[in-house]
Amino acid sequence: MEICRSIEECRAAIAALRGDGKRIGFVPTMGALHDGHMSLVKRAQDNAGAVAVSIFVNPTQFGDAADLDQYPRDEDRDLALLDQVGVDVVFLPDVDTMYPPGDETIVETTRLANMLHGKVRPGHFRGVTSVVNRLFNIVQPDTAVFGEKDYQQFVIIKKMVRDLHMPVQILGGPTLREADGLAMSSRNRRLTPEDRAAAVVLNRALDAAEARAGEPGATVEDIRKVIADTIASEPRADLRGLDTVAAETLDDLHGVLKEPLAIMISVQFSDILLIDQRVIQP
Ligand code: PAF
Repeated sequence: MEICRSIEECRAAIAALRGDGKRIGFVPTMGALHDGHMSLVKRAQDNAGAVAVSIFVNPTQFGDAADLDQYPRDEDRDLALLDQVGVDVVFLPDVDTMYPPGDETIVETTRLANMLHGKVRPGHFRGVTSVVNRLFNIVQPDTAVFGEKDYQQFVIIKKMVRDLHMPVQILGGPTLREADGLAMSSRNRRLTPEDRAAAVVLNRALDAAEARAGEPGATVEDIRKVIADTIASEPRADLRGLDTVAAETLDDLHGVLKEPLAIMISVQFSDILLIDQRVIQP
């Protein structure tokens, strides 16, 4: 496994793999890897001859300096995990490498980035697209894999690639869950034991929504109510966001369910915000 910290090292490692006739799959991450990330790596390996992973805690997507400082970092463990599964290249840039001093260029999907989660986290998705664009320019992958758990991010990346004619195929990785149904996330480690136990309510609410959607004549409003009631039944949980939108465009849906519905929820436990999502067919 080639460990690269500079753009030159990364490009040379990728060029060598291409020289061997390999297609490049890419998984961008912010480290603190868990099984969810490893399933994205597996999906990349199944779709390309060689896989590059980046680890970069991207400051431009954090609104809050404290959140950025507290983001878990464990480089040695991450590298050992990636080595074990046969990743070919790991790119570990520092902030000045990704954003050279004087950098002033941003990439933004202007509508999608400023709705839903983007409204409560201003600038977040602009930070994501700005860094993913730079990473794609450095790694130049054939395919890249993003978790569907952050559904809005997944839709935004597909839109950016389409709008900017980037020659990268975007693949989604299904959300991986703990045994009790909690979506895997690096943030789960920061929950207190009580909040960790309570956090199972996100998946329970999505199960209840799916069951309601399966009933004849179910409306989006019915589905929203079931979710809100389920979250409210857990005293430690504070529902911060509930979006029920068209799976492709993220436009709000109302009335009887007639097209694929993406449900995105964000729920606060003490000082930790957890997100989850599900796409439900009519
Ligand atoms: O999903 C993430 O971990 C990040 O948003 C990403 C795509 C690596 C960009 O920093």
